Amino acid sequence: MLKPDAQREKILDLLEHAGGVTEESVRQISQDTGVPEADIWGTGKFYSLIDTPGKRIRVCDGLSCQLAGADELAASITDAGKACERVSCLGQCDLAIATLTEDMQLKTYTKKETSISPDDPELAINLAGPVDLSYSALKRSISMGAEKVIKAIELSGLQGRGGAGFPAHIKWTSVRSQSETQRYVICNADEAEPGTFKDRETILRQPHKMLEGLAIAAAMIETNEIYIYIRGEYGNEYASINRAIEEARDPLSQFNFTVVRGHGAYICGEETALLESLEGKRGMPRLKPPFPTEAGFRGKPSLIHNVETIACVPSIIHRGGQHFRDLGRTEAGSKLYCISGHVQSPGVYELPLGVTLEELVDAAGGYTGTPLAFSPGGASSGFLPISMRNLPLDYKNLAEAGSMMGSSGVVVLNDTVDMAVAAGWQLEFFERESCGQCAPCRIGSRYLRRQNDAYLKLGDPIAFEHADDVAWEMEEGSICGLGMVAAKPLESARKHFPDHFKTK
Ligand SMILES: Cc1cc2nc3c(=O)[nH]c(=O)nc-3n(C[C@H](O)[C@H](O)[C@H](O)COP(=O)(O)O)c2cc1C
Ligand code: SF4
Repeated sequence: MLKPDAQREKILDLLEHAGGVTEESVRQISQDTGVPEADIWGTGKFYSLIDTPGKRIRVCDGLSCQLAGADELAASITDAGKACERVSCLGQCDLAIATLTEDMQLKTYTKKETSISPDDPELAINLAGPVDLSYSALKRSISMGAEKVIKAIELSGLQGRGGAGFPAHIKWTSVRSQSETQRYVICNADEAEPGTFKDRETILRQPHKMLEGLAIAAAMIETNEIYIYIRGEYGNEYASINRAIEEARDPLSQFNFTVVRGHGAYICGEETALLESLEGKRGMPRLKPPFPTEAGFRGKPSLIHNVETIACVPSIIHRGGQHFRDLGRTEAGSKLYCISGHVQSPGVYELPLGVTLEELVDAAGGYTGTPLAFSPGGASSGFLPISMRNLPLDYKNLAEAGSMMGSSGVVVLNDTVDMAVAAGWQLEFFERESCGQCAPCRIGSRYLRRQNDAYLKLGDPIAFEHADDVAWEMEEGSICGLGMVAAKPLESARKHFPDHFKTK
C-alpha cells in the first residue's frame, strides 16, 4: 500500500536521471520518495528510455525510415562494431533515416530540409508565418467569457487532431460542468504515431499558438494549472516550449506551466495512459468511462488536447468560428498533413481538411517512382491502394473506406515495395508498443507478426489461416485503440494487395 505522502509523480524523472533501473537507483529513489522498491522497479521497466539506457545507437524502424534503408544503416553500424538497437518511430519521417545517438541526440540522414506550406495569414496554424507574442486572443477570450468562446469553438467545427476527431467544444463544456473545481488542462505532445511529425513542427515554429490556446482553455475551464507532456526523444522541442514560456512570462503570468518529458513509450500518447504516466505509473490505458473530462489527472476533471487542436484556438478567437470552418473542404478547418515516404518533398502542409492524396502529393512536389499504396493516418490506419488517391483525406471518408484519418501522418509507398514486408514492419511496431494488459492485444499482436514472418519465410498463405479471427478478437477485446487497430496493416494489405500474399 502506497503511503499517502509518497512522491510517486517524481519517480520516472529520478530513474532517468539516475541512468536507469539498478539496485542502487531503485533503493535510493525508494528512500527519497517513499514509493516501495518493487513498485519503482516495475514502473521503470515499462519505459524504454529508462529500461535500456546506456551507450548505443538507436535506429528508427518506422515505415518511412524502413523505406529509406534503415536495415542497411543498422547493419553498417553493427559491422563497425558499435552497439545498435532498433526503436519505434522517432518522429523524423520527413528526414529519414533517423537515429538517436549514444548521447541521446536525434540525428537524421538526409540532405533535404523539411518542407512546409508557404506563409499564408489565412491559415489557422501558418507554420511559416510570423510569431505573434501579443497574446491578444487570450485577452479577447477573457473579455468574451466562456459561453461565447465555447460557442465560437462549436461554430468552428474544430475536431480533435490527435486521432479521434472528437468535437472540441463538447470536452470544454463537459469539464466546465463538473462540480469539482480543481481542474487541469493537459497538452498531448507525445507524438509517436509512425509517419507523424506535425506537432514537432508546430512546437518548433509556432509554440506561442500552442501556449496561447492552452491559456485560453485554462481560463475558460477556470484553472491555472497547465501540463504539457512531450515525448522524451524531442529534445529541441522541449527546449522550444521552455523558451516560449519564458518569452511569454508577462501575458502568461497567471498560469502555472509544467512541462513533463516522456520516457519512450508510444502508448503514453493514449490520453489515459498519458495520465497514468504523469502520475508516475506504468503507461497503461484506463477503462473508460469515466472519461478524463470527469476524472482525469489525479482523479480531477481534465481537458486533454493534441498540440495541433489547441494551436488552432487563437485563430478561432481572432477571426471567428465561421472563418475556421470555411478553411476546410469536406470537414471544418485547415489541417496539418504530414507526408513522407516516396514523394519529392516530405514535410508538413497545411491544407483544407478533405484534400485528396493527389493534391497533397502535388504540394509535396510529386511522387518518386510509380506509386502503389499509401498509409493515410499513421500505422493505425493500415494501407490503401493508390487507386484511392482521389478520396478526401478526412475523418468521415477515410472511416468509410475502412481506414482512418488518425494523426494525418501520410506515407506513400511505390511499386518497389513488397506489401507483406511493409505490413510486417507495422505489425512489429504494435507488438513492441502494446502495453500488455489485454490478452487479445498482447498475444494477438505477437501472433500476427509471427505468422507474417512465417509467410515471408516460407511463402505459404496458410500462415494466415486464423488471422481474421485473431483480428476480430483484438478489435473486440481490447481496452484501447492500439489493440483495436493493431491488425489493420495486415488486414488492409491482404485485402488491397492480394498478389503480395500469394503462394511463392
Ligand atoms: C494508441 C494511441 C496513441 C495515441 N497517441 C496520441 C499522440 O501521440 N498524440 C495525441 O495527441 N493523441 C494521441 N492519441 C489520442 C489521444 O488518446 C486523445 O484522443 C487526444 O490526445 C485528445 O486530444 P484531441 O481531442 O485534441 O485530439 C492516441 C490514441 C491511441 C489509442
Ligand atoms: S489494447 Fe493493447 S495497448 Fe491498449 S490497453 Fe490493451 S494491451 Fe494495452
